Amino acid sequence: MTDQPEAVDFPFERTSPLHPCPHYARLREEAALTAVRMPSGDTGQLVTRYEEVRLVLSDPRFSRAATMEDGAPRYGPAPQKFKTLLNMDDPEHSRVRRLVSREFTVRRVAALRPRIQEYTDSLLDQMAALPGRETDLVQALAFPLPVQMICELLGVPYEDREQFAAWSDSFMAITARPVEEILAAQRALYVYLSGLVADKRLHPGADLLSALTQISDSDDGRLSEEELIFLGVSLLLAGHETTANQIGNSVLALLTHPDQLDILRKEPELIPNAVEELLRLFPPGDETLLRIALEDVVIDGTPVRAGEALLPSPGSANRDERHFEQAEVLDVRRAHVDHMTFGQGAHYCLGSGLARAELQIAIETLIRRFPTLRLNAPLESIPRQTGRLVHGVGRLPVAW
Ligand code: HEM
Repeated sequence: MTDQPEAVDFPFERTSPLHPCPHYARLREEAALTAVRMPSGDTGQLVTRYEEVRLVLSDPRFSRAATMEDGAPRYGPAPQKFKTLLNMDDPEHSRVRRLVSREFTVRRVAALRPRIQEYTDSLLDQMAALPGRETDLVQALAFPLPVQMICELLGVPYEDREQFAAWSDSFMAITARPVEEILAAQRALYVYLSGLVADKRLHPGADLLSALTQISDSDDGRLSEEELIFLGVSLLLAGHETTANQIGNSVLALLTHPDQLDILRKEPELIPNAVEELLRLFPPGDETLLRIALEDVVIDGTPVRAGEALLPSPGSANRDERHFEQAEVLDVRRAHVDHMTFGQGAHYCLGSGLARAELQIAIETLIRRFPTLRLNAPLESIPRQTGRLVHGVGRLPVAW
């Protein structure tokens, strides 16, 4: 690892709950890579331009598995010892991903769509019945919808949501919680998923976790018990934290861009495209897809040594003027919104289909049923979470 005295502290502070730090635009102009000091104190190279972010995410010379090795530069102060799908390289990664993809199919997500609609309707019925015509949209919709859906998909008891949401909250922390608490949450989630997997073996249902248990049991199955448990943890956590924050970010963006909201009200068929545009500009975590270089390489003239950390930033790539015209402008009619918010290459988000279905249904139903919906607090007063891997607005006061 190179110790670069000129490294700047990372992540950068936001000046708005909606937009990333304006530093990114200047950094993209200066170079594709910028030396940064991560919250752990280790240094790395922040990758800010679209083409270079794509390169680092899709080229096997930049490893996820190496982030788990002792002494490797790490992002946060807590060691990352969870060998999830995301922390594997090929050939192990392809093997496990192929097995999971056999069960986590487009058809399974399509089958969930009516349930997503039904549950969204019931949450919005409760919201409509509130006498004061005002609420916190994070509590009313953004959080409960993805939690309920991931519970139904995986076959996790919904009654356990408060418990696993608390562990998840600590697990996703970088500096927002003490290291001991983050490690305790990792252990607790492992034990919780071990119990669930054992239960699914005894009483298999129609859910994804039961189906994955069957793969691991089958004669040609090569999904070990540990792989299955880590997979369950990552699906449970990735399956709700990201989408919950993205619903909040998207609604806040629409309420503060009334011209774009108007277009969607008049032309709801644009909603799938609008969801992509909102993912491009307002992602739920834009900095931390850490990779370790496996060999010496030169990127845009900057040498990167084997063992050095790279931090490709999808949030910055998504605003790169080299790739997107008028990149800073929210345009729900934009053609070809090929954003990086779901990653790129081998680790491309496994749950993107589910996330898209939830985002499309939540936004379409909300704006159809609440035509007078408005932000009920000044934009600057909306709290944006900090010190977390995945983040969004902590509260979203709305009225109608
Ligand atoms: C708006 C919502 C979401 C966003 C923005 C998001 C973003 C991402 C990103 C950027 C990656 C790649 C990380 C990297 O390369 O370092 C990823 C991977 C992953 N995501 Fe998502 N995600 C979302 C929703 C979901 C959902 C709903 C699930 C599960 C039901 C999920 C499960 C996963 C898994 C298992 C991986 C690892 C894939 C692999 O390593 O092969 N995600 N996600």
